[in-house]
Amino acid sequence: MDNEIKGQLDEAIFGLNSKDYRFPIRHSTAGACGIDVRKLHSESGVLNYDPGFLSTASCQSKITYVDGENGLLLYRGYPIEQLAEKSSFSEVAYLLLHGELPKPEEFRSFSDIITHHTMVNEQLSAFFRGFRRDAHPMAVLCGVVGALSAFYPDAIHIHDPQERMNSCHRLLAKLPTIAAMAYKYSVGQPFVYPDNSLSYVGNFLRMTFSIPAEPYIVDPLVESALNKIFILHADHEQNASTSTVRLAGSSGANPYACIAAGIACLWGPAHGGANEATLAMLKEIGTPKNIPHFIERAKNRDDPFRLMGFGHRVYKNYDPRARVLAKTAAAIIERTGADDPIFETARELEQIARNDSYFIERQLYPNVDFYSGLILSAIGFPTSMFTALFALARTAGWIAQWNEMITDPEQKIGRPRQIYTGTTQRDYVDLDQR
Ligand code: SDX
Repeated sequence: MDNEIKGQLDEAIFGLNSKDYRFPIRHSTAGACGIDVRKLHSESGVLNYDPGFLSTASCQSKITYVDGENGLLLYRGYPIEQLAEKSSFSEVAYLLLHGELPKPEEFRSFSDIITHHTMVNEQLSAFFRGFRRDAHPMAVLCGVVGALSAFYPDAIHIHDPQERMNSCHRLLAKLPTIAAMAYKYSVGQPFVYPDNSLSYVGNFLRMTFSIPAEPYIVDPLVESALNKIFILHADHEQNASTSTVRLAGSSGANPYACIAAGIACLWGPAHGGANEATLAMLKEIGTPKNIPHFIERAKNRDDPFRLMGFGHRVYKNYDPRARVLAKTAAAIIERTGADDPIFETARELEQIARNDSYFIERQLYPNVDFYSGLILSAIGFPTSMFTALFALARTAGWIAQWNEMITDPEQKIGRPRQIYTGTTQRDYVDLDQR
């Protein structure tokens, strides 16, 4: 529907049982407009049915825009390619939260606040002791981030703008510290405190990889690659985990609990867990000669195997994030000299899949998770940490979306309806009568 026609639309007419129902149109500044069906059930008695929300807008938002047909991703109107090239993750976090790129003084103040909230309460370290050393870092993040609710009871005052900003700043500042602690705990090394003289990403790298016995110098190329990965993962409209944060937040829950809910949803292999699943798949494939067998498995509807890191609900041409990361992956692999055969297998797999009619017809291209895992692996992160890094980055988007929802005058508690297909009413039968 071109903009001309879209612009002329002001209502949709829906006919049911020879009666017309009229619903107003909600216009967009880009992408699809929407039919406001909030009164559909009260006026017509029927519901719209849309499991997976393929054609349902859950909200209006000004934060991120994705054009799946043209491979476009904008954060507050800025193309992701420009931000990945020119910006920093903490500047992008400011942009997502406040809607504009910060002026120098605004950025200095924001960076100073975030830097001075990176430490966690020393009591929080005790939470890690309850986990086995081989606990998945996402299980640790769910538990520890949710536990932050107990340390900041004032966060429940979500309609106080300053309290909301305090929560947003704390979450942005502490996720790297907690993610690094989860990694250190898994390898039996001591936790490393933040170093306020480092950048946001440099500080995270040092908390993760430095050991007390040796000096640690942040590698600028690694810092730049991780900065790009965090920027590209920062937000993505109303994806499953962001929708989870919004739904949890719509009940007025403590924001730390809402972000913990988002972390839980992101963990799924069809969503944020895909980067870890992609590496596991590449290791299962092993050498390029095995690729055809796995391609055939991916095409077989009776086989649950899918090519992890391929396909996307919205991007039906290519994922612009994948394009940026493909270049970054090549540079990092060359720099770190990572000689794991999976890098060769990944390159071969991408070429074969891109020329296979099954994937072309279904518009299945490498997505952001296909490359991010390769880069993180080359930097030295274990695959179990990949989704934790995705959660660290997506926290910037989650807090911006949560903050937007809380201030949305049309926001109500999320309470979907259902189409009931179970047994209709019947009477209880005593045990000796059955
Ligand atoms: C993320 O929403 C977001 O924005 C998410 C994200 C973000 O930033 O928040 O972008 C991050 O989650 C990226 C996606 C990571 N997931 C994966 O890489 C897992 C592998 N991908 C698939 O699970 C799948 O592509 C989805 C879940 C990503 C999208 O699924 P859809 O849109 O519901 O598509 P579908 O499952 O209906 O598939 C359509 C067809 C089917 O075949 P047919 O029924 O037509 O025969 O394509 C096939 C599917 O079988 N298909 C695949 C496939 N993905 C889809 N076949 C083989 N391998 C795949 N990866």
